[in-house]
Amino acid sequence: MDDKKIIFSGTQPSGNLTLGNYLGAIKNWVELQKDYHCIYAMMDLHTITVRQTPADVRRRTLEVLALYIACGIDPDESIMFVQSHNPAHAELAWVLNCYTYMGELQRMTQFKDKSARHSDNINAGLFTYPVLMAADILLYQADYVPVGKDQMQHIEICRDIAQRFNAIYGDVFKIPEGLLSKSGAKIMSLQEPMKKMSKSDENPKAYISMMDDMNTIAKKIKSAVTDSEGVIEYREGDEAKAGINNLLSIMSAVSGRSIEAVASEYSGKGYGDFKADVAQAVVECIRPIRAEYDRLINDKAYLMDICKKGAESAGKISERTLKKVYKKVGFLV
Ligand code: TRP
Repeated sequence: MDDKKIIFSGTQPSGNLTLGNYLGAIKNWVELQKDYHCIYAMMDLHTITVRQTPADVRRRTLEVLALYIACGIDPDESIMFVQSHNPAHAELAWVLNCYTYMGELQRMTQFKDKSARHSDNINAGLFTYPVLMAADILLYQADYVPVGKDQMQHIEICRDIAQRFNAIYGDVFKIPEGLLSKSGAKIMSLQEPMKKMSKSDENPKAYISMMDDMNTIAKKIKSAVTDSEGVIEYREGDEAKAGINNLLSIMSAVSGRSIEAVASEYSGKGYGDFKADVAQAVVECIRPIRAEYDRLINDKAYLMDICKKGAESAGKISERTLKKVYKKVGFLV
């Protein structure tokens, strides 16, 4: 191995990936391939912590993979695999469960939110979700984990668990660091722009799915919530301006220009014209990705082959860590 550092991240196949996932995460992951060894997984084990339709999980797992590749993640360069194809994740998660405290898990905000939203199904998997996530990361001795702000608490607990384990058994795990997207492209809901754009939003007008057709995308942008002031200006933190701020960040992210440059180009112009241009720019950004995606999703044999090779490569790396852990805790290996 060379001295390139290791990046690990992943996505749950639990909904259609959105423009927010692309601009806020995947686009960044593509860049990272140049300087790091990258491993990107489809996190199906995490997905079943909330009740799902099995056929949907299966379909979406391949959709996420096709989208990764269509966005520019190169299967010859990076490892892409399905979490459940590598049993080491579940195995290490069990061990780490025994080094994680109930109290720590009880404090996790995602657990509190999800158990409020799914009060009929507060299962043990939902509770230990962060432990499985820690196993995902630690198995590959990852240096950096690119995630959104909402996942930072999970990175913190992962570090705590790893440090606790290392303190008892010596240097077993690399202590990973979270990597917040440097472009800071946090894309908000088009309907409630104080909320993050989410693939699980009940209102489909709130998000742009990477699977939407071009007309739908344009329509959703044109019906995005703005304000009645009629001024195109970026005002960070100003609630009344949240809709316009969001459209400015989207325009900036898809065009590769700074928010300031976009804002000054449109200052004095009307919302209608601005939205039409944002819609056009987003459509042009997604069009080639969609074309490639449509081609890939029809080539299931190719996608399955990537999964298989990915799981093999991932398995080789994770096996070393798991063996070491098993030895340290006293299992007969
Ligand atoms: N919890 C992450 C999310 O919902 C997905 C995830 C699972 C993940 N395991 C991970 C992300 C390991 C980074 C590293 O977005």
